[in-house]
Amino acid sequence: APGLLRDRFGRVARDLRVSLTDRCNLRCAYCMPPEGLEWLPVEATLSDDEVIRLCTLAVRELGIRKLRFTGGEPLLRRGLERIVAACARLVTDLGTHPELALTTNGMGLSHRAGPLATAGLSRVNVSLDTIDPAHFHQLTRRDRLPEVLAGLRAARAAGLTPIKVNAVVMRGINDADAPALLDFCVEEGIELRFIEQMPIGPADTWDRQNLFTRREILELLSVNHELHPDETTDPHSPARRWTIDGDPTKKVGIISSVTEPFCENCDRTRLTSDGQLRSCLFSGNESDLRGPLRRGASDRELAEIWRAAMYLKPRAHGLDNAEFAIPSRTMSRIGG
Ligand code: GTP
Ligand code: 5AD
Ligand code: SF4
Repeated sequence: APGLLRDRFGRVARDLRVSLTDRCNLRCAYCMPPEGLEWLPVEATLSDDEVIRLCTLAVRELGIRKLRFTGGEPLLRRGLERIVAACARLVTDLGTHPELALTTNGMGLSHRAGPLATAGLSRVNVSLDTIDPAHFHQLTRRDRLPEVLAGLRAARAAGLTPIKVNAVVMRGINDADAPALLDFCVEEGIELRFIEQMPIGPADTWDRQNLFTRREILELLSVNHELHPDETTDPHSPARRWTIDGDPTKKVGIISSVTEPFCENCDRTRLTSDGQLRSCLFSGNESDLRGPLRRGASDRELAEIWRAAMYLKPRAHGLDNAEFAIPSRTMSRIGG
């Protein structure tokens, strides 16, 4: 179909990641400075109705089949249930409803999991870097591990499954906790993905020389478990997976954006909470949708802007190259 979000390299975007706020209630070291950031003013942020309009356009006109809500912390958005409910009614080019997922830090999830499931949310990915309470406090700068664990339990009770946990590994902070986190997730029936830290947070927190790599993660986990590459890995998920101890139902993933980038198979497009399109997580330029939207642009005009923006998507992030520069918009303002 001529209307899809194609780029110069033959990729087609099917997965829209919508950041609903730049605010967050944790201060993870790899993501934000201790004092937080200057939040966007309310009037700069898309309203619920504006978000719903753009998601509707993306699904109806642009071939998007999967919507993932991110932040900052998306549970801080009061209209989240309303947005989810509206998106759950959409129909994709396959004739099915879009898959609706949420990437959250789990704070407040214990109260929202039920209402979100009722609204039509399919599943959640929860960021949890360690199950050691002191290390959790050190890494997120908040002593709130029990609340996140309660959120995980509530998500399971509400049927927001399969649940995935994302763990960014920082050397000397939570690397040694990886085996315990894996055992916890296996026990709970949660798919854990370890993540190589990317240079997209505070400038002084990333050091290529000191990166805890996929190879090291595999070595560490192999002390207690036998890992085998999983051939059923989804080509569009950033994670490569391994089965654990020969049991095909037990898996661990690793997202190795630095040492083994997956840009070739990328099917993502991104909308920031202030209505900017990003063709790539690391893109140097954004395309404004909020301005045209608020000036009364038609669906056709907005779709054209989106297609033009995605056509120019870079081939790859190149973050392992010497000339790589940290993008001016950091992770909490993009949504991962
Ligand atoms: P699934 O559909 O459950 O596989 O979700 P996901 O892994 O795509 O989404 P999630 O929000 O859980 O992201 C997990 C990790 O992958 C985060 O650390 C993201 O920053 C990273 N990630 C997500 N999208 C991209 C991307 O386009 N490029 C790179 N390099 N990393 C990404
Ligand atoms: N590198 C890799 N992953 C990151 N995330 C946040 N900052 C970084 C970073 N610098 C992850 C979070 C969350 C997802 C949205 O992105 O842990 O799981
Ligand atoms: Fe896609 Fe850009 Fe992420 Fe690579 S870095 S996977 S191209 S969004």
